Amino acid sequence: MRMRALLLGLVGASVVATASAGPELVDFPQGWETSFSLAATRDMHRGGKTIAEIFVNATGVTSGPGDVPLASGTVIVMKLYRARIDAGDQLVRDDAGRLVKGDATGALLVMEKRSGWGADYGAVRNGEWEYASFGIGGERRQIENKGCLECHGALTEFDYVFTRYEIAELRR
Ligand code: HEC
Repeated sequence: MRMRALLLGLVGASVVATASAGPELVDFPQGWETSFSLAATRDMHRGGKTIAEIFVNATGVTSGPGDVPLASGTVIVMKLYRARIDAGDQLVRDDAGRLVKGDATGALLVMEKRSGWGADYGAVRNGEWEYASFGIGGERRQIENKGCLECHGALTEFDYVFTRYEIAELRR
């Protein structure tokens, strides 16, 4: 009986150890606002009235030119803002024609890459990337990561990162 309990204990442990894919692998990157670098600002994120700011940690910045994969340990945070709208419901633009940031939407989208991650996704795997979402204060938001994997999955030549070249530009 003791042996059986021991075996069950071991099975339990191995189930935990093989739960090796999913948003929960990604921890909230504490302190990102001061330690990450702004790589890009994109108007009309995914075609909406939203502005995306994309920040990357030092590992990402030093990963090399845009045509090489980002290094293990790279974390990318995207902070979303509502674009400002005028009284006539038109998008406000600055002198350079860019959209103007209003309030943050409250969502942070995060990609993190670690050696060995992604193996459990089979054909939909995006290299070693995982995707997650947090509120501004770091509370985890539940996501369905299938959409993240599918849309970013088209970018095989850019290591699944839309702003790969902007990140490479930060090395100088
Ligand atoms: C329909 C396509 C689509 C889906 C689905 C999608 N993204 Fe993205 N994502 C983009 C685009 C496009 C950008 C580049 C920013 C821009 O142009 O607005 C981007 C940028 C990012 C970035 C900044 C790094 C980069 O690739 O430039 C992160 C982080 C990110 N997305 C996380 C996520 C997460 C997490 C999910 C799932 C919850 C997700 N994305 C789902 C299209 C998508």
